[in-house]
Amino acid sequence: MPVTPRQLQRFKSEQRPIVALTAWDYLSASLLEAAGVDVVLVGDSLAMVALGHRTTLPLTLEETIHHTRAVQRAVHEALIVVDLPFLTYQPSPEEALRAAGRILKETEAQAVKLEGGSAAMVETVARLTEAGIPVMAHLGLTPQSVHQLGYTQQARDPLAQQQLITQAQALETAGAFSLVLEHIPADLAAQVTQRLSIPTIGIGAGAACDGQVLVTADLLGLTEQQPPFVTPYAQLREQAIAALQRYIADLRQG
Ligand code: KIV
Repeated sequence: MPVTPRQLQRFKSEQRPIVALTAWDYLSASLLEAAGVDVVLVGDSLAMVALGHRTTLPLTLEETIHHTRAVQRAVHEALIVVDLPFLTYQPSPEEALRAAGRILKETEAQAVKLEGGSAAMVETVARLTEAGIPVMAHLGLTPQSVHQLGYTQQARDPLAQQQLITQAQALETAGAFSLVLEHIPADLAAQVTQRLSIPTIGIGAGAACDGQVLVTADLLGLTEQQPPFVTPYAQLREQAIAALQRYIADLRQG
């Protein structure tokens, strides 16, 4: 049975950790599906991993839909969640509804993810939820705000921590079905996880979250550099280059 947003909430109450990983094409998605993940996130990190951009900002809605269609061909059991690209949802709840609506109409994804917890974003989450679109929220280090926040750990002082807790609660009240917490102190993530009834999915936010998400290319050691909180479970980049070099050498030796 395919995983649903509601099922993630059951996983939380059963204390069954949620496993989410990113995919950007058919091949990466087929590996995740074969391995048995719960959530396949078509994250906007695909702008960097698959398209070679320096940040996630240049990704367009058309590119997101194109990549999601490739991913969906490999995914039959996991829940597919898609990142709304930068500036497709920030201008207004109506623009967000149109962008999210296109993703759900033109792909087989079941949910969207958006970044931030301002009052405007809470209103947007409420608008999408009211229209029947499941929303995964995202607080802490939000890469679409990299030019304001950098890639460093967020919410380190008590004021920022209180603000994050308040935003998390407001996003839950607005209807978000889960919340990604990226690169924040582990004790803060633990507090948020305890206070919310929706599941938290951490990335660089400690072990107390209800689930974990990583960029698959980082986990597999495919990227040139991994963020400080990732422990690669393989070194596929090195292995692939070594295999290619052996092949090149064999061919050149005839
Ligand atoms: O874009 C992405 O890949 C993400 C996560 C890793 C949370 O947003």
